[in-house]
Amino acid sequence: MSQTLDIISDWRRFPTRHRIARAEIAGGLVAVTWSDGRISPFHFDWLRDNCPCRQCVHGQTREQVFEIIDAPEGLAPSEAWPEPDGGLGLAWRDGHQSRFEPGWLRANAYDAESRAERRTPPPQVLWGAGDPLPTFDFAALAEDGPDLLAWLTALRDAGLTLVKNVPVEREAVMTLARRVAFIRQTNFGVLFDVESKPNPDSAAYTGVNLPPHTDLPTRELQPGLQFLHCLANQAIGGDSIFVDGFAIAAAMRQQHPDDFHVLTTTPMAFWNKDTVTDYRWNAPLLALDDTGRVCEARFANFLRGPIDAEPEAMAAIYRALRRFLAFSRDPALRLVRRLEPGDAWVFDNRRVLHARTEFDPASGRRHLQGCYVDRDELISRIRVLERELGN
Ligand code: OGA
Ligand code: ZN
Ligand code: ZN
Repeated sequence: MSQTLDIISDWRRFPTRHRIARAEIAGGLVAVTWSDGRISPFHFDWLRDNCPCRQCVHGQTREQVFEIIDAPEGLAPSEAWPEPDGGLGLAWRDGHQSRFEPGWLRANAYDAESRAERRTPPPQVLWGAGDPLPTFDFAALAEDGPDLLAWLTALRDAGLTLVKNVPVEREAVMTLARRVAFIRQTNFGVLFDVESKPNPDSAAYTGVNLPPHTDLPTRELQPGLQFLHCLANQAIGGDSIFVDGFAIAAAMRQQHPDDFHVLTTTPMAFWNKDTVTDYRWNAPLLALDDTGRVCEARFANFLRGPIDAEPEAMAAIYRALRRFLAFSRDPALRLVRRLEPGDAWVFDNRRVLHARTEFDPASGRRHLQGCYVDRDELISRIRVLERELGN
């Protein structure tokens, strides 16, 4: 790669695993033949749009400064050739020149095979009552190293982790959360105290049984990660229960596809109203991503508003809701544990439903502290850590 054209519009590294053997301009496309025989066609606009040269990309931010409209419509390259490093060289008819690193071009190629490779998402590890719980030690998470990455990856893929030996001190949960990223503040504070309170503004702050739920389904974006750190748990009752919302979704999709369809398409109302805030949001219980995978569960029965749907749809909606609730109570799907002081649950609040059995506040002290971090903070942290650890 030449000295002046040495930048790429990304901070990731793109090792050369395949070199370009041939580059041909034909039929309004540049057809690139790779060393393994794969052929990737590229449109002229696409190539011009992604030119990584210093005129097109800012040298420090690596953000694009060029806009495609600044190139004449119908602009075509006059020549295309394999570079000595295995990349692609282009000379454009308006005099501009572009060079593409082989690794970058391969990683972003959009022929069917390349797209299929790229679309392989991280696995969703579904779990139920008998499955092992990914458990980590607080001290091991202090360094930006493989242990931290293992924890973050478990959070991404399984959605539920237990961290042991967090100092039994107020605000220690913030230290843990900051190992991932910024804390997301809400109307319940930067940090919230879960204990029975004299004038509760949430069912959580009483001793009542909290059925399986996600926190803040009332918000357009539900908090991604939830941290719950135990400072005291001497009261009778108050055990923790977790149900994998994606496991419920998978079971419904397979066994009750009609109910699954209803839950992915019917907006449900979630309301959290008190004297100073009034959050309301309508969204289906299960959300699908653009590939059809379940990417979110949203549910708290105690925050649900009345269902607003066409009369003809109501019976099917209630059938589906009953089915969802039945799965949420299925012992085979419920992981039950009692938190000890120093334990912290960290889980994907947009996936995992959590619950607490009733406790008697008069029987002993129970105090958890919690906070939230958004899911894309987690994913960004994983990417940068992988970059730094050379994965
Ligand atoms: C909550 C909650 C769990 C518990 O505060 O939303 O679910 O164990 N608490 O008290
Ligand atoms: Zn350029
Ligand atoms: Zn909760």
